[in-house]
Amino acid sequence: MAELAVLGGEKLCSEGCRPQLWPPRDLNTAERLKEVYLSGKWSFNSPEEQQFERDFAAFHGAKYAVFMANGTVTLECALTALGIRPGDEVLVPALTWMATALAPYFLGATPVFVDINPETLCMDPAKMEAAITAKTKAVIPVHVYGSTADLEKILAVASAHHLAVVEDCAHMHGGFWNGRGVGSWGDVGSFSFQQSKTMSSGEGGICITNNQELAEKIYLLKHIGYQRGLKQGQAVKAPEGLICHNYRGTAFQAAILSEQLKTLHDRIRIYGESAAILRAAIADVPGVRTQLPGRLADPQGYYSFHFLFDGEEFRGISKQAINEACIAEGANIGNGGHGAVYQHVLFNLRRDEYRIGSGERCDVCEDLSARMLGISHEYLYEPAVARKIGEVVRKVASHPEELRRYCRERQR
Ligand SMILES: Cc1ncc(COP(=O)(O)O)c(C=O)c1O
Repeated sequence: MAELAVLGGEKLCSEGCRPQLWPPRDLNTAERLKEVYLSGKWSFNSPEEQQFERDFAAFHGAKYAVFMANGTVTLECALTALGIRPGDEVLVPALTWMATALAPYFLGATPVFVDINPETLCMDPAKMEAAITAKTKAVIPVHVYGSTADLEKILAVASAHHLAVVEDCAHMHGGFWNGRGVGSWGDVGSFSFQQSKTMSSGEGGICITNNQELAEKIYLLKHIGYQRGLKQGQAVKAPEGLICHNYRGTAFQAAILSEQLKTLHDRIRIYGESAAILRAAIADVPGVRTQLPGRLADPQGYYSFHFLFDGEEFRGISKQAINEACIAEGANIGNGGHGAVYQHVLFNLRRDEYRIGSGERCDVCEDLSARMLGISHEYLYEPAVARKIGEVVRKVASHPEELRRYCRERQR
């Protein structure tokens, strides 16, 4: 008689594994949106945008912020402001959303993929150093899913090689490293507020920095060259060669985000509790582990939470089979993770338009992507839900022989 529900055993979780409704909706925010609508100040550095920029920067320990249309153009503007030009190389981790690699490409620079650390899944600082050439001008560490990249080591390597650092914090709103907010450690920090993120206004993005000159340049770049605070008639010419865009966000987005910022700290604390429950649930199960938090990260954000089925016990068992076994138990542990960017179906660069630091393959990233399953942050809002998910993963991971049998039956 099988234990696993996918083979006819008893289902573990008939209810209670539901995700949080996301993005959040509440009447305070609806009221605030109405006020913005009636004010008629919908864009062009509106009071709502200014207020959100101040509050978001302060939360993360930065002096300046520039609010924008999304978290791809934030990366692009940060790199432009830092002087990245055609022919330069920019180091990016192999495991991220493709925007991290496309931003340098849009500027005519070459993205160079660096393999990841097997425990944090973030860029490996030693492999980063090995990938540097005379053309390398910048690095974009990504605080991916539920871990913070090793900022201490990455900043040390970057400084030794005179590289600019743009932290991609699209997965880490509100996370702290060694006592200060993520995004405030590099030259610029970039965040996305797209629909699925842990702070969301449908679309949106922000750059934060402690460097006034960079902040001013980024502002010019997103606002077609107008300086902050100057009206149309008072425009002065942007610096020569700085070709500016319209990458503005709106007051509506800023109002939604201001409300979400008020609860960010508490939400992060609850994610941490749920993550601890999930780690404990599988701590003594052989062959499965979880993505580890960043070494000096406290507290840390969680865009998602990942399990790695990379022990001998799971050799030959596909992650699709594990995914189906979890769903049959009543918890949607997804296929998890983006995989190596250069293997993504939508990544359309020719092979000669990017480089892989270690040659032809980022071994750790490719191998672990095939062994990785995860849940999105929506499952971390209630520790009781995390507990049920932990029980499901524990049950499934404790039956590798049944999983193997399921794989065989699936193939017939
Ligand atoms: C790591 C990372 N960087 C950048 C982005 C780009 O953000 P946006 O979708 O707002 O352009 C995303 C979005 O999914 C992301 O996950």
